[in-house]
Amino acid sequence: MYAYQSLSEVARYLYRPPRTRQDCADAIARVSTATAWAHDGDTLTLAVCRNDSRHVIGEILLKLADARARQVEIGWVFHPAHSGRGYATEAARAAAVAAFGPLRAHRLFARLDTRNGASVRLCERLGMRREAHLVENDLDATGWGSEYIYAALSHELAR
Ligand SMILES: CC(C)(COP(=O)(O)OP(=O)(O)OC[C@H]1O[C@@H](n2cnc3c(N)ncnc32)[C@H](O)[C@@H]1OP(=O)(O)O)[C@@H](O)C(=O)NCCC(=O)NCCS
Repeated sequence: MYAYQSLSEVARYLYRPPRTRQDCADAIARVSTATAWAHDGDTLTLAVCRNDSRHVIGEILLKLADARARQVEIGWVFHPAHSGRGYATEAARAAAVAAFGPLRAHRLFARLDTRNGASVRLCERLGMRREAHLVENDLDATGWGSEYIYAALSHELAR
């Protein structure tokens, strides 16, 4: 986790600074026991490995944003050394299947910085629809940021 979460290029669109080694240790301690899926904010963090190696190459997050309406947010962070080969797409697709299957999502959505082209393309490869363009809805040290919201319902992704 530290190998990729510590990189500024990875943190660029995550709305927080790169993680230190201690941040990563704290995060792993927190997320490795976080298996609840019942209340708003419950989040599952899935480590992603290739079939031929036990090394973690990235992570997929599923967050129960609204338990009553079964709204689930998906997120992804991968090591750039493993980019461009479809691993994030394959992992996100598997997470979407889990979200709409055992996790009973009604709607799956992602929020991303409009400048995050790789994430935009990932959402579109998954078959998500661009639902919103929030203009300068965020402010950080680099200035105003704008976001897209992508989403899909179960039957739309099945198609
Ligand atoms: C977002 C992120 C996960 C995307 O990574 P990625 O490497 O582009 O995604 P994938 O592993 O699915 O690879 C897809 C790319 O490989 C190509 N590819 C090659 N073989 C492929 C295959 N078998 N299947 C799918 N895509 C394949 C695709 O064409 C695509 O390239 P393109 O985007 O230039 O068209 C990565 O950039 C990242 O971790 N960024 C930092 C964290 C971040 O910003 N997270 C999002 C916050 S909202």
